[in-house]
Amino acid sequence: MALPAIHLQEVTRRFGATTAVDKLSLTVEAGEIFGFLGHNGAGKTTTIRLLNGVLAADGGVIRVLGLDPGTQGSQVRARSGVLTETPSLDERLTAVDNLTYYADLYGVPPGQVRGRTAAVLERFELADRAGEKVGGYSKGMKQRLALARAFLHEPEILFLDEPTAGLDPVAAQEVGRMIRHLSRDEGRTVFLCTHNLVEAQRLCDRVAVMERGRLAAVGTPRALAREIGAEMRYTLEVAADQRETARREIALLPAVKYVETADAELTLTLSDREAAPEVLARLLAAKVRVYALTPHESSLEDIYMALHRQGQERGMQ
Ligand SMILES: Nc1ncnc2c1ncn2[C@@H]1O[C@H](COP(=O)(O)OP(=O)(O)OP(=O)(O)O)[C@@H](O)[C@H]1O
Ligand SMILES: [Mg+2]
Repeated sequence: MALPAIHLQEVTRRFGATTAVDKLSLTVEAGEIFGFLGHNGAGKTTTIRLLNGVLAADGGVIRVLGLDPGTQGSQVRARSGVLTETPSLDERLTAVDNLTYYADLYGVPPGQVRGRTAAVLERFELADRAGEKVGGYSKGMKQRLALARAFLHEPEILFLDEPTAGLDPVAAQEVGRMIRHLSRDEGRTVFLCTHNLVEAQRLCDRVAVMERGRLAAVGTPRALAREIGAEMRYTLEVAADQRETARREIALLPAVKYVETADAELTLTLSDREAAPEVLARLLAAKVRVYALTPHESSLEDIYMALHRQGQERGMQ
């Protein structure tokens, strides 16, 4: 069997009283696009820094491409590219000079530096501004340059911390396309931290959801939906003047977990499928005119929110 790209076993990292990463176990296969999700402070960036060998773990086993980042950090970094949360670029230098400096640092053979630099600048649509000082770049241009830098030494694995933050929708989609190309056509592994759940759903083979340093769930979006029962969401459409009556009636049913009112529709979360006929019977008994009760294909956002609610409920117990 092929060596996994990333393997974490019971990895823990603390900062004083805070346990940023708490006994995290995880395997990412080579060639996967793996989404790493979780709200602010969940431990995503810390995990990337551990994988990259810039932070040491307090416990557990970490392997990246079979190497231990704790003791073989430079070897890991030579074969991986990283886009950090706040990429440091030298604003006094041009884009070309920034990249040349990095190429040197990452051991790109001198004969290839010019060609590769030009190619990544072209890829990220910065070629026509390549000779300008980075200090004069817009936020999105800086982000694209930082991405270009992560690709420069053609790494086998990419750690991308919020790669599309600050990008316009067109540029963000282009980055998504490139990520898919790197995985599907070139077999590279992508470890992607993002708060953009639509993007994660579109791109990722599997996702993990972190909750206060712990792994709350891992799997394909579809498997997660089944696991947590997030597919029991329905949209209910009733006569406009009866929406409030409908809301009140169904909120009384124990099998109805949540009722959200959007403009014209109600969104219900039911404990199981059998609750749907119960909802319908109740509404009909109250003489509500029901036009539709439609089950949802749950989105990653639904799954994320459901996990978050479960996490909060656990936290309150
Ligand atoms: N160098 C540090 N010193 C002290 N605490 C830290 C340090 N780095 C991270 N932490 C703490 O560890 C926890 C996890 O932080 P981390 O940056 O990994 O979260 P994150 O999931 O990347 O969040 P975000 O979505 O906001 O980027 C937080 O409570 C944070 O304050
Ligand atoms: Mg972060």
